[in-house]
Amino acid sequence: MRKKVSIVGSGFVGSTAAHWIASKELADVVLIDIIEGVPQGKGLDLLEAMPIEKRDSHVIGTNDYADTANSDIVVITAGIPRKPGMSRDDLLNTNFKIMSDVVGKVVANSPNCILIVVSNPLDAMAQAAYKISGFPRERVIGMAGILDSARFRAFIAMELKVSVENVTAFVLGGHGDTMVPLPRYSTVAGIPITELMDKATLDRIVQRTRDGGAEIVKYLKTGSAYYAPSAAATEMVEAILKDKKKILPCAAYLNGEYGIHGLYVGVPVKLGAKGIEQIIEIKLTPEEKTALDKSATAVKELVAVINV
Ligand code: NAI
Ligand code: 2OP
Repeated sequence: MRKKVSIVGSGFVGSTAAHWIASKELADVVLIDIIEGVPQGKGLDLLEAMPIEKRDSHVIGTNDYADTANSDIVVITAGIPRKPGMSRDDLLNTNFKIMSDVVGKVVANSPNCILIVVSNPLDAMAQAAYKISGFPRERVIGMAGILDSARFRAFIAMELKVSVENVTAFVLGGHGDTMVPLPRYSTVAGIPITELMDKATLDRIVQRTRDGGAEIVKYLKTGSAYYAPSAAATEMVEAILKDKKKILPCAAYLNGEYGIHGLYVGVPVKLGAKGIEQIIEIKLTPEEKTALDKSATAVKELVAVINV
């Protein structure tokens, strides 16, 4: 049986995710958007690239949710991106309205799917999707930690002039200015980075990671990052469709883990065919726990505004 992934929002992140997913032949892809013509045009263009890529992924674009029926995974990227001077939180009310429109239609057509939420502000939008969908928490997952960790990994590799393949890193917490990069759990070929660079260098890289989204927005001026975000969403899709049991930092609904109750926050999870198959609780120092709590408080404030 062929796998089916629908992507809601055919803008930069959505269409680039479709590109990665189709070119890795992970699934057939349905692109959907409210704008007429754009998903159809991008979908057909991508389909026409498949003979060159030697991939049999089928891709279509549509404005009709009936075409998304029985998707295994639905990736939600619908929403406005930020522009220079805006924070992710400035998107809250507009994107909540879009999320309220989209999630009901997705669920009606794919009641058994796994939802991967990308729209910002990420943790609050994941919480909205969880509450609106009525799905169990295992099947509503937010994408942010993989992106933030990838930025951290790229900066570490650049600084130490080593292969990115040697670098592992974890960033926890909400996808915002309070995110929590964890140098103690970040390594190069198993060696903690705290042994490979001085504190000033590490602090600079940590800050660049926190500002990673804004750095791209400043260059682009008309929108936000999309190559790394869509690659991150694709890693989640692959882990689920291939039942890889991969440990990845994702936004998950916490029910007491890390002492946090009833809230989406970025933590390490095991991703497999059932979605989130385990929330991994790692030991944090008092400083790291304080930083995670501060990040959770920032998410809680947003969630309170939209009352989900
Ligand atoms: P974009 O503007 O290129 O695309 C968004 C698309 O959503 C547009 O094509 C728009 O027509 C569509 N849309 C709006 N309302 C819709 C509705 N009701 N139903 C279906 N489609 C609808 O924006 P981009 O760059 O693709 O970003 C999308 C979202 O992802 C933004 O909110 C952005 O902030 C967020 N994002 C989150 C990241 C993360 O780490 N979680 C990383 C990058 C982006
Ligand atoms: C990013 O971090 C905009 O959240 C998006 O690039």
